[in-house]
Parts: sequence; structure tokens; C-alpha cells
Amino acid sequence: MPLKKQSVRIGIIGFGTVGAGTAKILLRKGRQLERKLGFPLVLKNIADLDTKRDRGIKLPAGVLISNANTILNDPEIDIVVELMGGIHPAKEFILQAIRNGKHVVTANKALLATEGQEIFKAAEKNNVDIGFEASVAGSIPIIKVVRESLIGNSIQSIYGIINGTSNYILTKMTEEGVDFSSALKEAQALGYAEADPTFDIEGIDSAHKLTILVSLAFGVPFSFKKIYTEGITKITPLDIQFASEFGYKIKLLAIAKQSGKDVEVRIHPTMLPDSHMIAGVNGVFNAIYIESDATGPQLYYGRGAGEMPTGSAVVSDIADIAGGIRNRAADRVQKTIIPEHSDLSIKKIDDIQTCYYLRFSAFDKPGVLSRISGILGEYNISIKSMIQKGRQADKAVPVVMMTHEAREKDMVQALRKIDRLSAVSGKTVYLRVEGGES
Ligand code: HSE
Repeated sequence: MPLKKQSVRIGIIGFGTVGAGTAKILLRKGRQLERKLGFPLVLKNIADLDTKRDRGIKLPAGVLISNANTILNDPEIDIVVELMGGIHPAKEFILQAIRNGKHVVTANKALLATEGQEIFKAAEKNNVDIGFEASVAGSIPIIKVVRESLIGNSIQSIYGIINGTSNYILTKMTEEGVDFSSALKEAQALGYAEADPTFDIEGIDSAHKLTILVSLAFGVPFSFKKIYTEGITKITPLDIQFASEFGYKIKLLAIAKQSGKDVEVRIHPTMLPDSHMIAGVNGVFNAIYIESDATGPQLYYGRGAGEMPTGSAVVSDIADIAGGIRNRAADRVQKTIIPEHSDLSIKKIDDIQTCYYLRFSAFDKPGVLSRISGILGEYNISIKSMIQKGRQADKAVPVVMMTHEAREKDMVQALRKIDRLSAVSGKTVYLRVEGGES
């Protein structure tokens, strides 16, 4: 069948969850897309080594192939959509597509966060677009928001719940009191976790996504390695319960905020007041809270993973780039480049100032609290409130404190000293608190 003259032709590499979602939308919404764009999008090929598995969609004959090179070298294909994940050979495929003058759409946050600089430079050199809406927060159009909708703003802060798996785990632990490992198993069974769940629970997936957002929002080069990253594996039901007694939720938060001449960029379990808008974001949902100078606060909420939500973001990039090819070729390049325009540098974790939750295990003996608070005072750390639970002879009991703002370095040093006291047993747990001094 001859291809329609004005069509834009697409080749997808990777027929997994997101590949299947993208194909379903392209095929099922073909007429709607054509009506809205003014020309058809033609899914010419999908390449995957597994050509047998049922993905719940019947492709036209000849579309599914096993060799990605057929797509990369096909002069008729305008847009290559990389949905295979991983670093290699995804990177080589993308670079080859770019060299062959093809526009690229990818959902591969790990690849962009670690190798993005090279990929964007190659795209700039070859005058092609890279679409990556699906790489951060799935269905939420946050790349478009940060790059386009907020162009007239200076972004002051971003607070994101951008890993559905860890949010699901923390929600389960909070609402049902289940332990960490059974909540993780459920998240994996639901298909939200990365192939290697370490990426989800150790905050690495969130750090990949935050690397991309920070670069767009603050104009700093991709800095994945400079992002302080701490996961949720050490969060216990006990801390969740104490947090709740103080009126807080524990969330794995991606934080980026302007702080003087620096930008703080960090991923860690964070206590947020129950009243904070994203404290109520539960289950696998993602949310991004942004404060900008012209708009004030804004909240973006939606599904951050899954076949159809992520497929929706991929299709929006395809449509956007296809529109560029057919209608507005001249302004393509500006959108390709990640701007690096600022002198901001990333603040070291030692220098951040925040409030803290501390849980000591202390023997209930006269003078213990004054020794603990004395050391905190030495390091300029002021206590806001405190709970002590129970009293047992010869057994350490939890003593929980909330502090006012303190410097991370001071806190780490103070806790090192406190943990050496004979009346304190084990390592003190500390969590950073955001959402303002109350
Ligand atoms: N593993 C990711 C998550 C999938 O749990 O959010 C989407 O990036």
C-alpha cells in the first residue's frame, strides 16, 4: 500500500509495556490523531527480539520485526521511538538514528540522566529533535510545563513524588502497617518496579528523573552524580507511626530548590506535614509541586508509570515532533537543546539547612535527655518538640524529637557524638523535614 504523501512515519524499538501502550494509542486513535494534526501518523515498524509474545494488540502484518537496524536505516522513517530501556544498546541505537537524520523520542530516563549531554549535542549537530516527556513522571506533562509553559517564570522550588513504586510501598506501610518487603513484592507484581527494583527503592530512578527536571528548570548541566540520593529501605513502621503522631507523612521526595547562589538537589525520605498538598499523594501516583515567581504554587498529579499513561506521553512527543516536521520546521532546534544558562551550582548536602526528626534509643536514666540536648546545643541545634514512649528498666526506649532548622553537617557531627554516649543504644535515626517551620 503506498504511503500517504503527508504522513509522518514512525519506528518503535522495544515492544515491552510502554511500546505496547504507544502502539495501542497510535493504532486505536489513528483517525483522531490525523484529524487533530492534519496528517496521518503511520506506525511502520516495531522492532523487538521477542516477536511472539501476546501484548494484547493485533498489529498489521509485517509491522513487528526483530532487527532494530531495519528501522534505523529505513529512509522512510522520520521518528525513531526508543522504548527498550537500559543504557546499551539503547544509546548506540539513538545515536545511529540521530546520525541518520531521524528525530528521536525516548522514555529512557536512566540513559538521558547519565549520557544525555552527548545525545543532546549529537541531536543539535544533526538538527533533529529529542522528545523525552515520558522519561519523567509518566503521564504528567511535566517536561512541557517546565520547558514551555513556565518559560516566563523563575522556578524557585520543585518537590516531586516521582517514583510510583516507592510511593506505593510507603503508602502501604502507612495505611496497612505492612512491612517493607511485602509492600515491595506487591509493587513488583503490579508491574511498576524497574527491572532492578534497587533503582526504585534506593532513589536512583527518582535521581535520574530529577537530573532531567533540574537541568530544564535551573539551567544547570546534567548532574546525576552530584545528586544526594538516599532510598526508603531503612524506613520502619515505627518511624511512620511517630511521624503520624507529630502530624507528618513520610514520602520519598525529589527536591530541587534555589538557595542563594546554589541549588539544592536531593532525593531522600522526607517528612511532610499532613496539610502539605503532596502529603496526600498516595499509591503509585506521582505529583510535582512547583513554586515559580509569576505563577506561585502549582501542583501536577497523575500516573507516573504503566502501559497507557506512559504511552500517552510518548504519543504526545511523537505528535509534537511530527507537527514540527510538517508545519514548523524552523523552530525545531531551540526545543532540542537543554539550556545551560545559569551559574548556579549544586549545594553540597553538608551545607543544606533543614528541620529534622530524630529517634534516639536511650536508657531512661536521670540526665540522659540533658546530655543529648546539651550536645545538640553545642552544634547549634534547637529542639522544637519531643515524645518519649514507655519506660522499661535496663532497656532502651525510643525518644523522638523534632528540631528547628539546622545545618546537615552539624547534625551529622552531633549525632556521631550522641551515639557514643553509654546511655544511647544503636544508631540514631534521622529524617529531614520539609514544608516549612510550623
Ligand atoms: N519504576 C518507575 C516507578 C516506573 O515506579 O515510578 C516509571 O518510571
